[in-house]
Amino acid sequence: MSEKRDDRDGDTGGSNAMWGGRFAEGPSAIMREINASIPFDKALWRQDVAASKAHVAMLAAQGIVSQADAAEISRGLDTVAAEYEANGVPENWDLEDIHMTTESRLAELIGPAAGRLHTARSRNDQVATDFRLWVREAIDQADAGLAELQRALVSRADEHGGSVMPGFTHLQTAQPVTLGHHLMAYYEMVRRDRSRFADARARLNECPLGSAALAGTGFPIDRQATSGALGFDRPTANSLDAVSDRDFALDYLQAAAQCSLHLSRLAEEMILWASQPFGFIRLPDSLSTGSSIMPQKKNPDAAELVRGHAGRIVGCLTSLMVTMKGLPLAYSKDMQDDKPPVFEAAGLLALSIAAMTGMVAESRFDTARMRAAAELGYATATDLADWLVREADIPFREAHHITGAAVKLAEQRGVALDRLSLADLQAIDARIGEGVFAALSVDASVAARASYGGTAPDQVRQRVAEARAALGMEE
Ligand code: ARG
Repeated sequence: MSEKRDDRDGDTGGSNAMWGGRFAEGPSAIMREINASIPFDKALWRQDVAASKAHVAMLAAQGIVSQADAAEISRGLDTVAAEYEANGVPENWDLEDIHMTTESRLAELIGPAAGRLHTARSRNDQVATDFRLWVREAIDQADAGLAELQRALVSRADEHGGSVMPGFTHLQTAQPVTLGHHLMAYYEMVRRDRSRFADARARLNECPLGSAALAGTGFPIDRQATSGALGFDRPTANSLDAVSDRDFALDYLQAAAQCSLHLSRLAEEMILWASQPFGFIRLPDSLSTGSSIMPQKKNPDAAELVRGHAGRIVGCLTSLMVTMKGLPLAYSKDMQDDKPPVFEAAGLLALSIAAMTGMVAESRFDTARMRAAAELGYATATDLADWLVREADIPFREAHHITGAAVKLAEQRGVALDRLSLADLQAIDARIGEGVFAALSVDASVAARASYGGTAPDQVRQRVAEARAALGMEE
């Protein structure tokens, strides 16, 4: 790793330009390296510039700095931002972080007036503000991505409201369901994910700026003004809490972790369904890979990585929880380690959402194969037992036994239950009548489950219509 020296260090006898007054010696190479957050917190540059501009405008409005200095600082910050946009943020470990990097460049551009920007604030409230702004945007991006995923789920569910497939418990064929119903289960999970992100956003949206190092400031600042200018609902109410709170990052990571679990479960089902013995779906070529040795292979790598990423996202949550657990009030440098897990989780989550959206939108469902699996899995056995109870007044336990014998016979013949003849069924129990066949088909089975939230195609279509309306999808 290379490091560059801050030219201005010469002015303070080799110690830091920002606090050199108290220091006789500069930091060791190890100190500079362990201290530097610029390699990752440069991602906050947009938020840092926006918060500084709001701060200096407020300082001028309050008469704490002159209008002329404030205007120069604000213009200078625009120049710094334009430079970052064009060339990236320079990484100088001596400048430690994005806040000092920006202030130092501002000083190079406009001279001593730059030193007035840091009046009535500290990097502690500055970083808390920047990071909240960053996480707020990450929440908005996750929400937009999840809305897209929901649209894909709902469109495919709409297509397949009547497509029958086996429903599983213990991964054993249980009862027939519709593919639309199955996909809408994920719509519900994502609906809860979005609501968790919305909760996190509402709690996050208070502005720490003006809490200064930990105790507030003696300058006559206007915290309502900076809060409003940065789109927050209100300023935070306790300066000690404001500079040492990272609940907003943890709230975000918790929502992200839970969301990643849902994406991982969907990914796992697609991996399973794409496996040849299932053969329920063909994944899009664009989201699969081939094998370098086995020409027949089409591997569900994107789905597998979504499943893998969930582990890493949960790890990010764990990382920050453990970082925070023993910290006394107020700021401690441990908190600088809050950013890498949040940045990592946000990147992994965005990719995972996009990958699953593509897979849902573009996979081909083999509905004939799904239907055959439901039929040959004897998914309507419960319907036969229910029919015996309802129509022949047989106690359920006995009906269960009779049905077991019918399944055994169908299995021996290698046919679906409704392909046994009436004579075959009557040989098992004479009370079975012709009417049973109406109950034994997989279509009759799903149609019968018309309780609210059940798998009947009519129910699924109603839920799909409600979801389309909630998502503002055109009919
Ligand atoms: N780089 C620091 C961080 O990310 C900024 C705050 C530093 N504050 C301090 N008192 N050293 O947390």
